[in-house]
Amino acid sequence: MRKRVFSGIQPTGCITLGNYIGAVKNWIELQKEYDCIFSVVDMHSITVRQDPKELRKRCMQFLCQYIACGIDPENSIMFFQSHVPQHAELSWILNCYTYMGELSRMTQFKDKSQKHAENINAGLFTYPVLMAADILLYKTDLVPVGVDQKQHLELSRDIADRFNKVYGDVFTVPEAYIPPVGARVMSLQDPTSKMSKSDPNPNGYIWILDDPDTITRKIKRAVTDSDGVIEYKEGKDGINNLLSIYGAMTGITPEDAAKEFEGKGYGDFKAGVSEIIIETLKPIRDKYNELIENKDYIEKIYKEGAERASSIARRTLSKVHRKVGFVDRV
Ligand code: TYM
Repeated sequence: MRKRVFSGIQPTGCITLGNYIGAVKNWIELQKEYDCIFSVVDMHSITVRQDPKELRKRCMQFLCQYIACGIDPENSIMFFQSHVPQHAELSWILNCYTYMGELSRMTQFKDKSQKHAENINAGLFTYPVLMAADILLYKTDLVPVGVDQKQHLELSRDIADRFNKVYGDVFTVPEAYIPPVGARVMSLQDPTSKMSKSDPNPNGYIWILDDPDTITRKIKRAVTDSDGVIEYKEGKDGINNLLSIYGAMTGITPEDAAKEFEGKGYGDFKAGVSEIIIETLKPIRDKYNELIENKDYIEKIYKEGAERASSIARRTLSKVHRKVGFVDRV
């Protein structure tokens, strides 16, 4: 039996080059060897206030971007999280096996409660439990994510372990798959903080649907330093970030990327980085423009995706129900 992969992105802001390099690019590779399930995790996104009309539109756009990036709907399952109610159901049960102390230690919760001080809701606090439910419902072996999700993944493992210790072998304890290069792509405007899809300054990130001129302009404006030497070295955050982006996209290490540009100026280097990004993203943009017009096709994908996902999720959930002592449905 092939092993299983599960991953997802929250439909907030737009899919950035950080999401692409840290997650989606690896999803495409893993499809060859694993049974893959990719979700647009809309339930996670409402932990922060969303405009309903915008959210609905963005969910469709995200799904089209998954496919445009190369997720194969013939093989991989794609669906909207809210279409498979077992996520919320398992999440409730897992809440009862997760400690307040564990959730209080999550750095993303601390960051987000600072950013959204006016709306520190219970969903924001229990968010990692829903993420654990996403993963554990499908007996997932591998979860490809960027490094910022590592702590959440460790919590998922702890919850799975804890549950298994009480009830026997119910959940597969998942492993994280974090790429060796590009696990934390940094903001182009502030290379000491991560590239974020909800950055209010669009110059900080590259959207995977940005056109070539926009990409060139954003990379040109990317913050570097004034010493003019292209090397991968502590303290050179801006250059390190561009080298990592280049390395991740060409499949080499940032150190080797630096060698390729040895003796060149920052202008040439930035042109080289733009070029590889433009080359990679152009077919994605073209495919996206086709897909977004094809509503029937997309509908079919997410409808079938939810059905296939549900049939796996139902089995896991009914096993969990039995284990915790709920009466069988008749
Ligand atoms: P989200 O929506 O913030 O990000 C989606 C994916 O992109 C990765 N990522 C990055 N990788 C490299 N550099 C960056 N600057 C960068 N920014 C984001 C994230 O690590 C993630 O892999 N909680 C998750 C969504 C989620 C999920 C799941 C993921 C919900 N359930 C189950 C895996 C499995 C999140 O908010 O990711």
